[in-house]
Parts: sequence; structure tokens; C-alpha cells
Amino acid sequence: MTKDQREGKVRDEDGYTPVCRLRPLASSDFDRVLELERVLFGAGAWTYGMLADELAALGRWYVVAEPTGPDASVVYGPGPKPVVGYAGLWFDGDVAQVMTVGVDPSYQRHGVGRALLTALVSRARELRASAVLLEVRVDNEAALSLYERAGFERIGLRRRYYQPEDKDAFTMRLDLSAARSSGTGDDGPGVGDAA
Ligand SMILES: CC(C)(COP(=O)(O)OP(=O)(O)OC[C@H]1O[C@@H](n2cnc3c(N)ncnc32)[C@H](O)[C@@H]1OP(=O)(O)O)[C@@H](O)C(=O)NCCC(=O)NCCS
Repeated sequence: MTKDQREGKVRDEDGYTPVCRLRPLASSDFDRVLELERVLFGAGAWTYGMLADELAALGRWYVVAEPTGPDASVVYGPGPKPVVGYAGLWFDGDVAQVMTVGVDPSYQRHGVGRALLTALVSRARELRASAVLLEVRVDNEAALSLYERAGFERIGLRRRYYQPEDKDAFTMRLDLSAARSSGTGDDGPGVGDAA
């Protein structure tokens, strides 16, 4: 993982630019995250109670992306900037599970999702997880491409996993045990390096 990736800098057409920074999700972000949930996941969006329960549960680690730098100040003024992406991980002591990744539609395709996923995988490596697992809707081409380019492999199919949408999910896995046993840690074949 490079220094730029660790700081949440994302790539645009002109090279690496500090478009967004990553920071831990705070309770003050709840309303904005729930707004993005509804936009991104529709009927399957988390409610306030679901999000609160999720964040209070053991082993969770959530980050958000917010615009930063001169461009963001021009657009949003000098105050706080709106959250444009979020992602979460659950570590159970052995494997880590990607709980969610979401990016504001107007910020998609600018590397925010990759930066968030890189942060989750990096955190899983720090926790010495043996693998990172996730579920993704079988028709979610954008997410499937994001995960596959990050090195995740399809390992199974969960029928009707997503409700109320009634859609199947692929289970995907990124093996971290090789990096762990060889001691390569963050410098192993990480998400950002694979892109
Ligand atoms: C999936 C999602 C998080 C990707 O976020 P993003 O910021 O647009 O992704 P990035 O710009 O970092 O793209 C990284 C890679 O993901 C893939 N990707 C992203 N959007 C894609 C799209 N619309 N079509 C195909 N591939 C796409 C590409 O491989 C891309 O690499 P590339 O730009 O070099 O081709 C975003 O589309 C999203 O929020 N979708 C709705 C919520 C969701 O489905 N979350 C995943 C739940 S499992």
C-alpha cells in the first residue's frame, strides 16, 4: 500500500490528486450515510436502527471518504465537506468480512471505492486476518469488477441472499494467509497494487 493510498488519495485523469481523505465514521455521519444508503441500495438500504446496531457490534471498523483540498473548498466552502463514500469491516478474530462499500453516484469512477476497499484490506492485514470475505449481488457488475481487480475470487453462490430484492449473491474471498506467513504485511499483493 502506497503512502497516497494510505491517506485516501485517489486517482483522477491528471494523476494522483488528494481528491478525498479517509477518516473513521462518526455518529455525526449517520444521516448522510443513511441518505447514501437509500440512493445506492433502495429497498435494501439499512435503516437508522440497523446502522446503529451494526456500528455498536463487536469487531466493526468503518471509514468514510470526504472531499478535501482546494477544489473541495471551492465547491463546498471552508466548512465540513459531505461524506461521499463509506465502507465497513467486521473482524471475528479469524477472517474479516466486508460489510458494505458505497460511493455517492456523482463521485463514482474516480477511485473512491478502490481507496475505501484498500483501507479495509489494509485494516484486515493489520488485524492479521487470514482472509477477507464478502457477498455481492450477482448482477452488480461495478462491484464485481472492483473486487476482482482487487484480487478477490468467487468461491460460492448464496441463493436469494438479498431480501427484499430476492437476488442471489456471490461469495468472494481474498486470501491474506500467504502475505501473513511470509511477513509481507501491507506490502503484499494488496488492493491498490493490483489496480
Ligand atoms: C461499487 C462501487 C463502490 C465502486 O465505487 P467507485 O468509486 O465508482 O469505484 P472506483 O472508481 O474506485 O473503481 C475501481 C474499479 O471498480 C470497477 N468499477 C467501478 N465502477 C464500475 C462500473 N460502473 N462498471 C464496471 N466496473 C466498475 C472498475 O474495475 C474500476 O477500476 P477502473 O476504474 O480502473 O476500471 C460503486 O459503484 C457503488 O457505490 N455502487 C453502489 C453500491 C454497491 O453496489 N456497493 C457494493 C456492495 S457489494
